[in-house]
Amino acid sequence: MSRIAYVNGRYLPHADAGIHIEDRGFQFADGVYEVCEVRDGLLVDARRHLDRLDRSLSELRISAPMTRAALLVILRETVRLNRVRNGIVYLQVTRGIARRDHGFPSADTPPSLVVTARASDPKANAAKAQAGVKVITVPDNRWERVDIKTVGLLPNVLAKQQAREQGAYEAWFIDEDGTVTEGASTNAWIVTQNDALVTRPADTGILRGITRTVLFEVAGALGLRVEERAFTLAEALEAKEAFISSASGVVLPVVALDGRPISSGVPGPVAAALRARFHEHAETQA
Ligand code: PDD
Repeated sequence: MSRIAYVNGRYLPHADAGIHIEDRGFQFADGVYEVCEVRDGLLVDARRHLDRLDRSLSELRISAPMTRAALLVILRETVRLNRVRNGIVYLQVTRGIARRDHGFPSADTPPSLVVTARASDPKANAAKAQAGVKVITVPDNRWERVDIKTVGLLPNVLAKQQAREQGAYEAWFIDEDGTVTEGASTNAWIVTQNDALVTRPADTGILRGITRTVLFEVAGALGLRVEERAFTLAEALEAKEAFISSASGVVLPVVALDGRPISSGVPGPVAAALRARFHEHAETQA
C-alpha cells in the first residue's frame, strides 16, 4: 500500500512529498516536532503532545501553523490514509520558507507543516521488551535547551549511531557531573536497591517526555515510590532495574549498560508492570 504524507496543505504520495530547499527546517534545523503513538488506530496522548508542541513553538517564537482542531484533523487523516493501526504519527513545524538569512523571516511567512504516519509491528516491540535492550553512554554535548523538541538532533543522531555500531539500542547522555540526563530519543529511569523509581527532573537538562509524565501516574497507581532527581552512572550500574521510555517504545527494560549487566541482566518486574499498565493511564482520542 502506498504511503501518503501531508505537506503544507496537500496530501501527497510519500515518494513525491518534498519541502522547498529554502525551508528553514532544512537549512537551519529551525523547527520543532512531535511523535505520537498510534494504537488501534487512535492517537495516544495527543492532547499532551500538542500542549508540548505549543510550548516548543512559543519558546522559539514560531507561530502555530493552524488551530489545534485543524491539526488534529490532519493527524487523524494522515493515520487513516496510511491505514496505520499501530505505529506512530510524526509532525514537524518549521519557521517556513524564506531566502536564507539567519535572522527570522518577515512575520507573514507561514510556518511549514509536514505530517507522516508509519505502521510498526506491536509484536516486534513486545519482543524487544521481553528481551530488554542494551545501552551505551556518551558525554552530553547538546545545547542547554533540550527541553524544546527541536529537529536539531545532530548529537542525538551521532549518539544513536554509536550505540548501533556497538551493538546497543540506545545511548544515554552523561552530564559533566557524571549524572545521566536522558537517552538519544528516550527518557532514562532506574529502580534502586530500595525500590525507588528514579528519573531526572524535567528542568532544561532533558525533554519532558509525555510517556514519562504518564508513567508518574502509572507508578502512583502501582504504589511505587518515585524520586525525581538526577542519578549517576555508578548508581545505574548498581540498580535493580533500568529502563527507557518514549512514545514509540513505551517502556523498554535496559539489561546492560556499557557492556555491564544491570542486576542479573534480564528485564525486571517494575518495568514490565509499568509497561503493562501504561495504556490504562494514557489518553486516547477517536
Ligand atoms: N523521542 N528524550 C528525547 C531526547 C526524545 O527524543 C524523546 C522522544 C523522549 C521521550 O519523549 P516522549 O515520551 O514524549 O516520546 C525523551 C521521539 C519518540 C523521537 O524522537 O522519535
